[in-house]
Amino acid sequence: MVNIDEKPIRIGVLGAGRGRSYMGMAEVVGFELVAICDTWEERLSQLGKELNVATYSDYDKFLEHDTDAVVLCNYFHQHAPFAVKALDAGKHVMSECAACHTLAEGVALARSVERSGKIYMFVENYPYMVFNQEMRRLYQEDRVGEFKYGEGEYVHPDPAEVKLARSCGSHHWRNWIPATYYCTHSIAPVMFITDTRPTKVNGFVVPYDFGDPTQTMSAKRHDTCAVIICRMNNDAVMKSLHGTLRGHGNYVRIHGNKGVMENCRHGDKSRLRIWREPWEKDEDELVETVYKPEFPTYHNQAAKTSHGGGDFFTSYHFAQAIRTEIQPYLDVYRGIDMSIVGILAWRSALDDSAPIEVPDFRDELVRKQYENDTWSPDPMSKGNSQPPCSILGDIEPSVAAKDLAKKVWAKQGYFGE
Ligand SMILES: NC(=O)c1ccc[n+]([C@@H]2O[C@H](COP(=O)([O-])OP(=O)(O)OC[C@H]3O[C@@H](n4cnc5c(N)ncnc54)[C@H](O)[C@@H]3O)[C@@H](O)[C@H]2O)c1
Repeated sequence: MVNIDEKPIRIGVLGAGRGRSYMGMAEVVGFELVAICDTWEERLSQLGKELNVATYSDYDKFLEHDTDAVVLCNYFHQHAPFAVKALDAGKHVMSECAACHTLAEGVALARSVERSGKIYMFVENYPYMVFNQEMRRLYQEDRVGEFKYGEGEYVHPDPAEVKLARSCGSHHWRNWIPATYYCTHSIAPVMFITDTRPTKVNGFVVPYDFGDPTQTMSAKRHDTCAVIICRMNNDAVMKSLHGTLRGHGNYVRIHGNKGVMENCRHGDKSRLRIWREPWEKDEDELVETVYKPEFPTYHNQAAKTSHGGGDFFTSYHFAQAIRTEIQPYLDVYRGIDMSIVGILAWRSALDDSAPIEVPDFRDELVRKQYENDTWSPDPMSKGNSQPPCSILGDIEPSVAAKDLAKKVWAKQGYFGE
């Protein structure tokens, strides 16, 4: 195990929103925060003073700063080109979700990591929540048998004002990204626990809801939620659900051919429930066991960080990968696997949920077929054959929603459209 007291790894963080979590806990895993970068000047200078670190509003200049690694917390759909630049500049990269926004970007990213020889870690923190780490341990001990069916859920509703405050500007990605794209929080835990990858997807969306004020009073132009069915590489099937339905929660369930395990939906949701059928369980085993697991390592440090401790472990594993020079479990290929499911599920949803193969970008011959696939719903780069953001076509927020948006955005210090 790596000693977190070793010589600190000098990091720079891009993005002063989510990026703040990494800035705040850098020392806990043996990082030294030396530079931050954001185009939002006001936020940047305030944070720079607070943290006493170098500040940059220009990413190229930020990359010239003497750092070992950069953490990418810029916009959801812009990570891959920023990662490629950083890798080309000789930096290790830890990237927030998604790893890539198009298949062509996925190809470029995989090639760039291989070319650079640098560490790339995809920051999916949900697999590292305590119940998911425990389920991985149990799966590896064969407690539920071979993986047959799984579910991952990330359901995250919020009032319109809260949504608006975190998505300033009508072109902010949170206002247009199609419902299938933000899929890694629900897919990653199942992949992590069972060591499988998706090979085929069918995408479904529940359309934009004109009767839901959390949608009609916000600036969003995409659908309510997405259900993605994945065929996995061991022939198991998984269902991923994510979006803004009511019923906030993150849930994971794994059915094996000897039992089922899941985190609890009631009370303390980090508790784990395991069920073995009475007629085939071991003699000394209970049919149903419910307990609260602990993290396998670093319990105290992890318990203090957000996203159920997941934020500690992603940074920890990134640091460990840099120190051992071995790519982390959440390497570039797994990051791409889980990110492109969201893109392909949108293609599927727009084609009446037809199945679509998930290419494996570990293989250069496969990559070659996708290197020019720039299909994207991004309104800022939309060409003629590009897809809409909602299954209903183009949705225009109401005048009342636009008025509310202006007020909320102004409170955040954002005065644009
Ligand atoms: N893993 C998690 O639990 C989790 C939680 C929250 C957010 N995220 C991810 O973190 C990322 C950022 O999300 P966020 O919540 O901070 O909101 P956000 O996307 O609004 O913030 C991005 C920040 O990056 C800055 N930025 C964008 N382009 C830039 C550029 N070219 N140069 C410099 N700065 C630039 C923006 O000004 C902004 O401050 C997203 O990818 C999101 O998916 C992950």
